[in-house]
Amino acid sequence: MGSWIDMLLVLGLTLLSLSPSWATDVSYDKGQFLINGQPRILLSGSIHYPRSTVEMWPDLIQKAKEGGLDAIETYVFWNAHEPRRREYNFKGNLDLISFLKTVQQAGLYAILRIGPYACAEWNYGGFPVWMHNLPGVKFRTDNQVFKDEMQTFTTLIVDMIKKEKLLAPQGGPIILLQIENEYGNIMEPYKEEGQRYIQWCAKLAESQNTGIPWVMCQQDNAPQSMINTCNGFYCDFSFKPNNPKSPKMWTENWTGWFIGWGLPFHYRAAEDVAYAVARFFQSGGVLQNYYMYHGGTNFGRSSGGPYITTSYDYDAPLDEYGLLNQPKWGHLKRLHEIIKSAEKILVQKSVTHKDIESNVVLSTFTGNSTGNSTGNSVCFLSNANNNKDVNVDLQNNGKYFLPAWSLSILVDCNKEIYNTAKVSTQISMKTKKPSNGDTELNWVWRAEPMKDTLNGQGSSTAKQLLEQKATTADASDYLWYMTRVNVDATFPKNTTLRVNTTGSVLHAYVNKKRIGSDWRSGGGFVFEKPVILKKGVNLISLLSVTVGLTNYGSFFDLVPFGIVGGPVQLIGSTGNFNKDLSSNEWSYKIGLNGENQHFYDDKLSRKNQWASEGLPINRPMTWYKTTFKAPLGKNPVVIDMQSMSKGHAWVNGHSLGRFWPTMIAQAPKGYSCSDTCDYRGNYDDHKCFSNCGNPSQRWYHVPRSFLNDGDNILILFEEIGGNPIKISFQTVTTEKACGNAYEGSTLELSCQGGQTISAIEFASFGDPQGKCGSFKKGSCDATNTLSVLEKSCVGKESCSVNVLEATFGSSSCSINTPKRLAVQAAC
Ligand code: GAL
Repeated sequence: MGSWIDMLLVLGLTLLSLSPSWATDVSYDKGQFLINGQPRILLSGSIHYPRSTVEMWPDLIQKAKEGGLDAIETYVFWNAHEPRRREYNFKGNLDLISFLKTVQQAGLYAILRIGPYACAEWNYGGFPVWMHNLPGVKFRTDNQVFKDEMQTFTTLIVDMIKKEKLLAPQGGPIILLQIENEYGNIMEPYKEEGQRYIQWCAKLAESQNTGIPWVMCQQDNAPQSMINTCNGFYCDFSFKPNNPKSPKMWTENWTGWFIGWGLPFHYRAAEDVAYAVARFFQSGGVLQNYYMYHGGTNFGRSSGGPYITTSYDYDAPLDEYGLLNQPKWGHLKRLHEIIKSAEKILVQKSVTHKDIESNVVLSTFTGNSTGNSTGNSVCFLSNANNNKDVNVDLQNNGKYFLPAWSLSILVDCNKEIYNTAKVSTQISMKTKKPSNGDTELNWVWRAEPMKDTLNGQGSSTAKQLLEQKATTADASDYLWYMTRVNVDATFPKNTTLRVNTTGSVLHAYVNKKRIGSDWRSGGGFVFEKPVILKKGVNLISLLSVTVGLTNYGSFFDLVPFGIVGGPVQLIGSTGNFNKDLSSNEWSYKIGLNGENQHFYDDKLSRKNQWASEGLPINRPMTWYKTTFKAPLGKNPVVIDMQSMSKGHAWVNGHSLGRFWPTMIAQAPKGYSCSDTCDYRGNYDDHKCFSNCGNPSQRWYHVPRSFLNDGDNILILFEEIGGNPIKISFQTVTTEKACGNAYEGSTLELSCQGGQTISAIEFASFGDPQGKCGSFKKGSCDATNTLSVLEKSCVGKESCSVNVLEATFGSSSCSINTPKRLAVQAAC
């Protein structure tokens, strides 16, 4: 007979297996997000695992943790995982499970947006193109073929994470899941089918029995128990979740914006992002996620469309290479610390909002704070005016200067500890330097073999002009359209070839000779070139190129690509001759021969066919290869591609993505670029442009893990014509660190990547003028400032200085001048 101790043991073990002691309970109620029953304020950031490398993940995640985040968010990228139907790939940087485990090991939570529609400036929004070719399929609506595929993939992902015990109730890091993505924004044209689809999505999510909440972002009418969340540059008083019980959550706080080929950089000031975050918490938010925290790189053919660049830097707090983007990273880190120190009060949701004057609101949060650095109250004082600074007199609780478009956090409601517009974090100025004193690269080359295609030989035919992605299933950017024309006496002497295309680039050949290429940054265009035809049979070979399939909008999956439907015409110079070739017999060939024969990977292709003689410059359709040594040190490596036109680059067989440096950045009509941007007032993707007149993307990231200590191989495919001799490897270094700090605070300076501060180029305590790179002394200044800074900082990786008159000596500033320290250090 078992003793009562045995029985208790059995009972205990049974309970343990039902709910492991390390299990995390995630729930919500009364607008609170509860972890193990405790209401929480959570800060999260998006890092998309395929946009960096496995080797970069731990460092990125660690920097996110140091930056004050509790969680990492990612989409799941369906088309990367299922490139062909039921053939799956979870290797390398597609190893979702390892990524989630890395997040877990860092002690952070994870938010998984399964979708499986992602958007994300990712090719075709993350949908596999083979799905487009399934008979009867209609995407993102009440369509059985689509729903079956979506269910299969969603279930596959949920089963994988369950098997690895990655859900919070299993002891894993995942606290939140997402189904679909921003369907509410585009659902109207899907009518009732769309309404039914969204109900079905909710049921699909619930049927997965994950034990944690699911969100549907931008979905006002999200069916219970799905939680509607917001996305955008701001999410404040106007956003309310779809149920009084639901916590207010912000799934995408856009920290900047992506770049398009032919468009400038977008930057979003740290002051404005901080203001948006602080306003979110002022207005009762409990969980916010930065989109992106690290944007990274669109390797391979993963960028979406139209015309998304390979860099997905996004002006995020961590730059494309994983370096801190200062002052953004640090200014937000400080804000996170303060929000966390007030967490216990904020979560109690006991708040009053008082209008002080027009657009100026004082929000007083009260509650018991146990063991917190704040007292029993915290105030958020915001000024939403675009350009009116205000002085707020809270009488016994003090007087506050509140710059326009800023928010101050007042501890105990009587002491300002943070203002979103007052940045005390250092600015880092980065530069790209040629590496290893650069020995010139030796190039070999080979032509893209085009004998077959210039002769009109393809692998299939049709009596029409086919749609490109349907034909290639997106196996390549390239599709050859080839036909023959019999020229008889009815043809005029001078003709023009006119091709109406929805592709991104077109290269045209007539009778095996290249007659020209054309492209647009905005989408489809009409190609026109005069041609000389001969009597009898003439060959026309057109190579149509895509650079990423559209990823957003109602029915975006149906946006056509390529020369589909044409027309393709031969036009007479007098205008009365028009021969429409659209329903000729067309031959098709998918991809380039060089791609099919793996020219891009020296291990897979035949090595002896590269020539070192007669290296061609500005030759279209050419492959180039060189051997190089990895740049010394640890700084990120980039390739300067400015001398090339358009194509694709690989290092040791790893794709760096498409390059297209001849796409020069131009601001959209009516806008311009400027190095300074008034961040005040609502940000949008037409504010704060830079880089006009330069290539939209000149440098291409070579992750260190692609390189080895011996010889490395760089291979390029150039489509239009470039000069490889001018290509150089460079490293990204922090060149200068500048700091600004008011009297009474602490100034911290550091160079990244293990570099030390080599000199103090400027230091003034008083009323210094100008900005990083061009500081000047003002009317007053303490004489010892430079020597104090030199002693404290030179030769060190980082230093910190108390900004006090006692440190630097008297500044001779008038009593009314607020004293400030400005420093510029060389790294
Ligand atoms: C959102 C979308 C994201 C991303 C973002 C812009 O609408 O949900 O995936 O595309 O826009 O960067």
